[in-house]
Amino acid sequence: MTMKNILNKLQSGQKLDFDEFLFLLDNRDEYLANQLQSLAIKTRQKHFGNKVYLRGLIEFSNYCKNNCYYCGIRAGNANAKRYRLSKKQILDCCAFGYNVGYRTFVLQGGEDCFYSPDDIADIVKSIKQNYPDCAVTLSFGEHSKQVYQQWFDAGADRYLLRHETADKTHYEKLHPQNMSWQNRMACLQNLKDIGYQVGCGIMVGSPFQTNEHIAKDLVFMQNFKPHMVGIGPFIPHKATPFADKNAGNVDLNLFLLSLIRIILPDVLLPATTALGSLQSDGRERGIMAGANVCMPNLSPQEVRDKYSLYNNKLSSGAESAQQHEELKQKIENIGYQVVVSRGDHARFEKEGC
Ligand code: 5AD
Repeated sequence: MTMKNILNKLQSGQKLDFDEFLFLLDNRDEYLANQLQSLAIKTRQKHFGNKVYLRGLIEFSNYCKNNCYYCGIRAGNANAKRYRLSKKQILDCCAFGYNVGYRTFVLQGGEDCFYSPDDIADIVKSIKQNYPDCAVTLSFGEHSKQVYQQWFDAGADRYLLRHETADKTHYEKLHPQNMSWQNRMACLQNLKDIGYQVGCGIMVGSPFQTNEHIAKDLVFMQNFKPHMVGIGPFIPHKATPFADKNAGNVDLNLFLLSLIRIILPDVLLPATTALGSLQSDGRERGIMAGANVCMPNLSPQEVRDKYSLYNNKLSSGAESAQQHEELKQKIENIGYQVVVSRGDHARFEKEGC
């Protein structure tokens, strides 16, 4: 196994195996990062030109029944100021976003049992009725296949559910016993089987993560072929068991964005809020590394700081959908173009959308 050989394989679109991914990770340096970045940019250019897609993120509830050790809105955080948005508030967010030019709304929330499956279906239906030219993405955790099907039938197009780690033992170090890696993975498969455009993903530098784990994640992504991948650095939150853990490494995150772009050429890949939160130009650097999606926040201003997954999460400036022009400018300044479109995955593009 040589680096030249691995790079040739990547260049010609061949799959890598676990050992080859691990070799790349173990030999990561600035030179290799630059090589991957060039290949990632070429790949993206071929599939998307210089287009960057926007998704309007509506964080509709920070109640959560789960107790993930890393997450600031975990059930066990008694200090979290909880909120949930009404259907009207959610629709108002969409109205604002539509006018600015968003054609995808992402409804993200903790696993909040207050909303019944019917409630969510009803909200999805209303958004699709009001904005038939928009896509709706749900990001609302683990549910039965039947419930996922109900939401799909109501009109939901996409679902984001990070797998967090492809290694069962690592998963168990990040989550309490009542959560299961098998169920997480089964949910992702169910979503795909139903017909959603599906997003998986990881936190870069999550506690106990090794290069072996990341190599496993890359093998998983290569085989699962998600339509979207969300990766961002782990950032500690003070009211969690991981308060004292180190944050993830921005350069490793950028390296992985490039690598993911190369192995999944037409994937929709956001430069995440976490990346922008850790470094002021993190999102721009994410786009320059191979990302092609930004997900500014459309939630009402007064609840923004309450959706606190980690400390110092960005919620204003170009991060906010209200500052649309600023974000557009920032993206144009680095040579890219924000487009008003649903931005479906190529395997899902419908004529006229
Ligand atoms: N740092 C970074 N990302 C986090 N997430 C949750 N907590 C943190 C944290 N402390 C990510 C998880 C989850 C997504 C919604 O946010 O990967 O899937």
